[in-house]
Amino acid sequence: MLKISEITVDYRLEPIGIDNEKPCFSWKLESDRQDTIQAKYSITVKYDNDVLWNSGIVESNQSIYIEYGGSALSPRTKYDVSVSVWDDLLINASISTSFETGLMGSWNAQWITHTLSDSEACPVFQKSFKIYKQIESARIYSTALGIYDLHLNKSRISDEYFSPGWTSYNKRIQYQTYDVTEHLKESNDLNVTVANGWYKGNFGFENRTNLYGDKAAVLLELHIKYSDDSMSIITTDESWLYSTDEIRYSEIYHGEIIDKTFTANDSFPVKIYDFKKSNIISQECEPVRIIRKLDAVELLKTPEGDMVIDFGQNLTGFVEFIGCFEKGKEIVLQHAEVLDKNGNFYIENLRSAKATDKFICSGENDIYRPRFTFHGFRYIKVTGMGNIIDIKKFKACVLHTDMRETGTFECSHKLINQLQHNIQWGQRGNFLDVPTDCPQRDERLGWTGDAQVFASTAAYNFNTSLFFEKWLKDLAADQGDAGEVPFVIPDALIREDGKVPSSAAWGDAAVIIPWTQYRAYGDKRILENQYSSMKSWIDYLSSEAGNEYLWKTGAHFGDWLGLDMEQYFTRQKYSVNASTGSTDKYYIASAFFAYSTELFIKTASELGRTDDVQKYRNLYKNIIRAFRDEYTTPNGRLVCETQTGMLLALKFNLVEEKFKEGITKRLVANIRKHNMQMVTGFVGASYLCPVLTENGYHDIAGKLLLQTKYPSWLYPVTKGATTIWERWNGIKPDGSFENPEMNSFNHYAYGAIGDWMYKKLLGISEIEPGYKVIRISPMPIDTLDWVKGHYESVYGTIGVSWNMSGKALSLKVSIPVNCKAFIGFPDGREVQVVGSGEYVFE
Ligand code: BGC
Repeated sequence: MLKISEITVDYRLEPIGIDNEKPCFSWKLESDRQDTIQAKYSITVKYDNDVLWNSGIVESNQSIYIEYGGSALSPRTKYDVSVSVWDDLLINASISTSFETGLMGSWNAQWITHTLSDSEACPVFQKSFKIYKQIESARIYSTALGIYDLHLNKSRISDEYFSPGWTSYNKRIQYQTYDVTEHLKESNDLNVTVANGWYKGNFGFENRTNLYGDKAAVLLELHIKYSDDSMSIITTDESWLYSTDEIRYSEIYHGEIIDKTFTANDSFPVKIYDFKKSNIISQECEPVRIIRKLDAVELLKTPEGDMVIDFGQNLTGFVEFIGCFEKGKEIVLQHAEVLDKNGNFYIENLRSAKATDKFICSGENDIYRPRFTFHGFRYIKVTGMGNIIDIKKFKACVLHTDMRETGTFECSHKLINQLQHNIQWGQRGNFLDVPTDCPQRDERLGWTGDAQVFASTAAYNFNTSLFFEKWLKDLAADQGDAGEVPFVIPDALIREDGKVPSSAAWGDAAVIIPWTQYRAYGDKRILENQYSSMKSWIDYLSSEAGNEYLWKTGAHFGDWLGLDMEQYFTRQKYSVNASTGSTDKYYIASAFFAYSTELFIKTASELGRTDDVQKYRNLYKNIIRAFRDEYTTPNGRLVCETQTGMLLALKFNLVEEKFKEGITKRLVANIRKHNMQMVTGFVGASYLCPVLTENGYHDIAGKLLLQTKYPSWLYPVTKGATTIWERWNGIKPDGSFENPEMNSFNHYAYGAIGDWMYKKLLGISEIEPGYKVIRISPMPIDTLDWVKGHYESVYGTIGVSWNMSGKALSLKVSIPVNCKAFIGFPDGREVQVVGSGEYVFE
C-alpha cells in the first residue's frame, strides 16, 4: 500500500488568495512497507477542463517544493491539482487538491478613511447592498491601515485576529482573502472595524503614536460570482459610510474599552484616502487565531483585597467571559504574569502598558471579549463583580500565529518536561505575527537577537517556514542602505538621525535565520529570497571591519544579560552595564562576522553562485586570520576566556583544531568554578550544551541541564514558571523580583536549549536539509531513564523513543517514506543506515 497522506501548496492546505505566480507543491507519503522511496511523480494542474500544466512522468524522488511549470496563472481563479506518485516497486498512489489565486495586484477599490478627529473610538466603515441573484461564490479581498475585522450581517466572517498583520507597512502591507459565500443574503450590511494596532497606536520602545501614519483606512473588494456566470464587484469608494461602535478605545499595550450600551446615532460619508496600492501583497504567513481556550483554575482574594483569577498558565491573548450583568455596569479586567511574594497582584514589570480591558455591560446575556488587543498574563484582577465570581464563566483565549505543531519531547524527568512545556508556551506567547521579545510590557517588538537564538528550537516545535519567510522579508525591507540590520523588525525604533544601528548576534539574524530555515525545511526559496539581504549584511560588516577584518565599531548588546560582570556578582544589583555580560563586545562582533560569513558561503554554494563562493571564502580566511592574531595567543589561549568567549571560539571554529581540547577543558573548569553553573547571557546560553556535547563533555551538558540552583534552566521551573523568563533570576531565591524595568516572565530566548534537547537527548537531527536524510543519535544523560518524542518533518513523522535499563539501551524509531536515516548509538557506533519504516534496536 502506498498513500499520499497530505498535499500542500506553498505549505498550505487548499489555499485561497495565493499571489505567487509559481506556487510549489509538496506531499507526504505513507507506506506499509519498509524502505519505500518515491521513484516517479506526475502533476497536472487544470482550470475547469483545460490543462495548464502537465509535468509528464518525472523520474525523481523529489516530493517537496515542486514548482508549478505551466502557463501564467490568472487572478481570482481556482485551479485543480492532481498528483500521481509511484514508489520503487511501482506501486501507485494519487491525490488531488486545489488552490485559488488572489487579486494578483489588480485592485479596483480605493482606500477610504474617516473624518473623525481626536476620537479614541474605532471607526466602523459600512456598506449596505442587496443581491437579487443566486450566488455561486463570493470572496472579499481586504486590508487596512490599522488592524481590522469584518462583519457581514452582524456575524464575524473569519476567525482571524490582528489582520492585516504587522509588516513594514510603508514598504509591504498584506491583504487577506475571505470566502464569504455563506454569509451573503438578499439584504446585506458589511462592516469593517479598524483599530490603531501597530500602524498608528501607542506603540514601540519609545511609546509613540502614529508610527506609520495617522489615519485609519480600509481597502476592500467583494467579488460575487452568480450561478448564471455573471459577476458583480463591490469596492470601497465614496458610497461607503462610517460611524463608531461599541469599541470606544483600543490599544495593543493598554487594552480596550467596550461599551455594550453604545448605539451610534449617525453615519457619515467616508473620504477617499490617497495611499499607495503598489506595496500590497497577499497574506504571507498563517493568520493569528484563538488557538485554544483555557479554563480558570482558581479564584483568589489577595492580601490587598483584590479578586484575582488564576488561569494556571502564563500566556498571550485575552480573557472572555459570559453573563448577564446590569445595564451600564463596569467590569474591569487587569492582567498580570505573576503575584508577588505576598500573593498580591504584580504589574510593575509591565512598565507603562496598562493591559486593562473595561466592559460596560448591556443588561443582556452577552459574551465580553476584546478584539484588537492582547496581553501577556496568567492572572487577571476583576473589578466590578464584587467578591462572588463564577470562574466557570471565564476563559483565557490563547492567541498566536496558527503554525502547525511539529515537535514533542517527553522524558522521565518531571522538571525537564515542565521546561519543555515552558519553551513551547514561550513560543506560543511570542509568535504572534512577528517574533516578539515578550508579550506583556510596553515593548513586544521583533528583536532580532532573540529570534536568532531561538529560531532552530522554534522550527522543532512548530512549522515556522511561512512565519519566518514573512518576517525575513520585512528584515530585508528594513535594512539600511549599507546593509545594516535594525535591532527590531519591523523597525519600530524610528530614529531622528535616520541611522540604522546594528548589533552583533542581533543583526546576524539576517544570515543565521534563513540558513536555519533552509536546514529545517529544505526549501531553497528562503535562501533565494534572502540572498541579497544576507549578502548586504556581510558587506556591511566588511565595510565596518575594513582592512583589519575585525568588527570593532558601533554599540552592541554583547552577551545580553550575561551574569559574569564583576559588579553583578558583588552587588547582585541591576545596572545597565551589567546587562551585556563581560565578554568583550568586539570579540563577539568579530566572531559573528566570521560565522555569518561562513553561513553565507554555504548559502552561495547551495545556490550555485560560484563567484560569490570564491570571493567570500577569501574574506572568511582574512577574518579568521585577523581574529586569531587579535584574540588568541600562539599557544591557543583566548584573550577572552569567559564562558561565552570560549563557546563562540569552539562553536564557530575560530581557533585551530589543536587548541580546541585545551579551550574545552578550560570551559569546563570555568563551569565547575561557578558551581556547575552557567553565567552566560543570550549569546552564550544557546551554545553551551551543544558545544559541550560536541566536544566530548555531554555529561557536563547534562549536569547543567539538571542544575536547579539559580542560574539554571530549571531554577525558574522550581519557582513555578510556566513559560521561559527573560532573566535567569526574574524571581530571586528569596521571592523578590529583579528590576521591573526589564523582567518579563515570557521571553523565549533562553528556551534555545530546546534545540539541543531535540537533537541530543531525543536524538533527531537533519543530515540533509528538510530531513531528507536524518540522523537518529540519542545521547542519554544521568538520571534520564527514557525519552520519547517526534518531529513532523516536511516528509512526515520522525519518531524516537528510548529506554535505558542499566547500561542497555532500547531504541525505537520511525522514519518517513522517501527518507533515510543514520542510526547512531551512545557508545559512538554509527551502525545502521535505514530507510522508511519502524525499527527497534537493542
Ligand atoms: C528586549 C530583549 C532584547 C534586548 C536588546 C530588551 O528590551 O526585551 O529581549 O533583545 O532588549 O538588548
